[in-house]
Amino acid sequence: MTMDLFDTLETGKERLAPGAVLLRGFAAGQDATLQEHISRIAGQAPFRQMVTPGGFRMSVAMTSCGDLGWITDRRGYRYSPMDPASGRPWPRIPEPWLELVAAAAAEAGFPGFVPDACLINRYVPGARMSLHQDRDERDYNHPIVSVSLGVPAVFQFGGERRKDRPLRVRLAHGDVVAWGGPARLRYHGILTVKSAHHPFAGSDRINLTFRKAG
Ligand code: SIN
Ligand code: FE2
Repeated sequence: MTMDLFDTLETGKERLAPGAVLLRGFAAGQDATLQEHISRIAGQAPFRQMVTPGGFRMSVAMTSCGDLGWITDRRGYRYSPMDPASGRPWPRIPEPWLELVAAAAAEAGFPGFVPDACLINRYVPGARMSLHQDRDERDYNHPIVSVSLGVPAVFQFGGERRKDRPLRVRLAHGDVVAWGGPARLRYHGILTVKSAHHPFAGSDRINLTFRKAG
């Protein structure tokens, strides 16, 4: 994958808030590499529905790749260098993904982004992610870069307080959202995913969230 390829893609850039940018369709055209690596990673580190510290099983199934993977259980939210399901390190972040995400981050105003954690979220119809802040990372100076694949969903992008009324943004296959700087600790979530079909993953929505966690 080369930068020239990205330059030829039709991408619209929308600012959601200071420090938060939506790059429509930025990852479109990468289906083969995305699909191939997602299924390989899920073969090594299967998707699982984890339990929150409060004891609720999440509707979103997750796995990870990278030096660190985000996990939750009754002991809390945290990053782990090992997949607790296997006791082995997570699969590596595929090189083409690192190129894609660095290019997206740069386009959004965050040059030099090198993630060490990629959370892979799988939403079946009916799954959702309630409003939360990403705050388990060591250094909030790094942005969050999120790639949406498969069926569309409504992304909520709120303020720094849970009660701040969120924007609602429809995210479709290939859309990338990056937020950092003044937007880094904004609340965000995904409304209940509706039944739909997309050739990428049938009725599922897949989201890749890249972070520099450690
Ligand atoms: C997340 O906040 O970790 C996921 C957001 C998304 O699925 O788009
Ligand atoms: Fe998040």
